[in-house]
Amino acid sequence: MQNSNGFDKAAIIIDTLFKFISIPSKEIFYGIKSRTIPWTFCSAWAGIFCLILFFKIDHYFFQYLPFRKLYPYHPILYKIYCFSLVTCSFWLWSLNQARLKKQKLSTLTAAFKSAGLVSKIGRLPNLVSDYPIDGTTRKMRLTNAGFPVTSFKDQSRFVESELGIFIDEVREDRETRTVDYIYSHFPIPSEIIYSPDLASKTYEFPVGQTRANTITANLKSCPHLLVAGQTGGGKSTFLRQVIVHLAIQNKNTHFLLIDLKGGLEFSLFENRKQFEVVPSVKVAIAHLNKIETKINQRLEFLKAQDCKDVDAYYSKANKPKDAIDLNRFVVVIDEAAEMFLAGHHAKANEVQQARGVLSKIARQGRALGIHLIVATQRPDVKSLDPQVKANLVGVICFQMMNDASSIAVLGNGRATDLPKVPGRAIWKNGADMIEVQTPYLAPELLDSLIGKPDNTSKSKEAADVDSKHSNEEVTADIEPLHDSSNPKG
Ligand SMILES: Nc1ncnc2c1ncn2[C@@H]1O[C@H](COP(=O)(O)OP(=O)(O)OP(=O)(O)O)[C@@H](O)[C@H]1O
Ligand SMILES: [Mg+2]
Repeated sequence: MQNSNGFDKAAIIIDTLFKFISIPSKEIFYGIKSRTIPWTFCSAWAGIFCLILFFKIDHYFFQYLPFRKLYPYHPILYKIYCFSLVTCSFWLWSLNQARLKKQKLSTLTAAFKSAGLVSKIGRLPNLVSDYPIDGTTRKMRLTNAGFPVTSFKDQSRFVESELGIFIDEVREDRETRTVDYIYSHFPIPSEIIYSPDLASKTYEFPVGQTRANTITANLKSCPHLLVAGQTGGGKSTFLRQVIVHLAIQNKNTHFLLIDLKGGLEFSLFENRKQFEVVPSVKVAIAHLNKIETKINQRLEFLKAQDCKDVDAYYSKANKPKDAIDLNRFVVVIDEAAEMFLAGHHAKANEVQQARGVLSKIARQGRALGIHLIVATQRPDVKSLDPQVKANLVGVICFQMMNDASSIAVLGNGRATDLPKVPGRAIWKNGADMIEVQTPYLAPELLDSLIGKPDNTSKSKEAADVDSKHSNEEVTADIEPLHDSSNPKG
C-alpha cells in the first residue's frame, strides 16, 4: 500500500516536472518559429547573467543570503544552475505565454458554450496553440471536437465578440482534426491604397486586404463577378481598380464598359485604346449583339482548332495564319438593374435579347475568354437575371441596407453587419466568405497608370455602333436607379 503511494507521488512529481519543462519549451518553440520571441530583451538578460557568473557576483550575493547552503557547488548542479540562470528570461517569457493561453482557454470555453459548440456528450473544442503569424495577426488552432468547419464559421461572430477579436479566416485540417482561426486584435485598416503590386500574376486582380493577407482573384478561375451593395458602398470604385489592374497587366485584353448611370462612372475610360465606353441601354444592346456574334465565331474557331478553351489555344504551338481575335474580352456593367428592367429606355424584346447574350456570356464565357463583371444595388430576381447571377462565381458584397438583400447575394446577413466604412465588403468565392477592405484607386491616377486618353483611338467597330444609335441615344430617357443624393456615387 505504502509502495503504491510512493509510486503515485513519484508519478505526480514526474508528470509535474514534465509539464514544467514541456509547456514552456513548446512556447519557446512557437516563439522561435513565428519569430515573436523578444530576442533582444531576453538576450540582454542572458548577457547580464553571463557577466554575473563570470565575475562570480552570484557567489558573493549568496553568501549574504540566509539560504547560502543552497549554492550548487557540485559541478553537475553548477552547470544546470548556470544554464537555468542564463536562459531564465526565455523561460519566464514562455511561462507568461502559457499563462495567457490558459486564460484564453477559459474564455474560449465560455465562448464555445454560448455559441452552442458543445457536443451532446459535453465535448468542446480545445485550444492546441495560439501564436502570432505577423505583427498584427495570430493563428489559434483548436481541436474540432467532431464539429464540421461550417459550425466554426457560423459561430465565429460569437467567438469574436466573446474574445474581443476579429476573425479573418477559418481553415480546417481534416488530417489532424483541427480548425485554425486566423484573427487579430486590430480591425481591418479603413483605407488601402491601390498599387499595381497588389496582384502580379497574369489575369489576376486585387480584391481587398484582410488583416492577414491581400486577397486576389484570377479571371481564369473566377471568370465572372457580381459586385453588389447599397449606394455609396464602393462598387464603382472597386470596378475602376479591377479594370485598371487587368488593363495594365494584360495589354491585349479589351473592355466593354457599360455605364448605365448616365455615363458618369466610366467616362474616365473614354477614348483610351483598350476600352469602349457605352453610356446607354440602347447602345449597350447593339454592342451585346456584336458580342453574340463574337461568341459564335470563337466557339466555331476553337472547335475547328480542337481546343477546349482559349488557354488551350494560347498554348498551341502551330497557330493558323487566319486566326480570329481570341484575346480576352471583359464586359463590365455598372448598375445592371437598368439593363434587366425593361422600360422606357429600351423595348422589352431588345432587353430580352440583351439578357440572352449576358446569360450566354455567363454560361459559355469562361472557355471563350469573354468575362462578365456586373455591379448592382439591387440583387433581386427582377433586377438581375437568375441564370446570369448563378454563373457569377466571385461575389463582392458591400454594405447592404437589409438582411433580405444580403441573403439574396451571400446567403446570409453578413453584409448588413459590415462597418460603415466605404470600400468594406464581404468577398465570396465558392463557399468561403471573408471580410476585406477593397483598394482605393483615385481617378486622378488613371492617366499615370493606363496612359492619357487619345481622341483618335476609338475603334471603328465602336464608332459604327455609336453612330447607328446616336439618334436613339439622344432621345433615350435614362433615369439612374441610384440615390441621386449621393454626390460621389
Ligand atoms: N475602397 C475604398 N476606399 C476608400 N474609399 C472608398 C472606397 N470605395 C469607395 N470609397 C468612397 O466611397 C465613395 C462612393 O463609392 P462608389 O461611388 O464606388 O459607390 P457605389 O457603390 O458605386 O455607389 P452607387 O451605387 O451610388 O453608384 C467614393 O467616392 C469614395 O470616396
Ligand atoms: Mg456606383
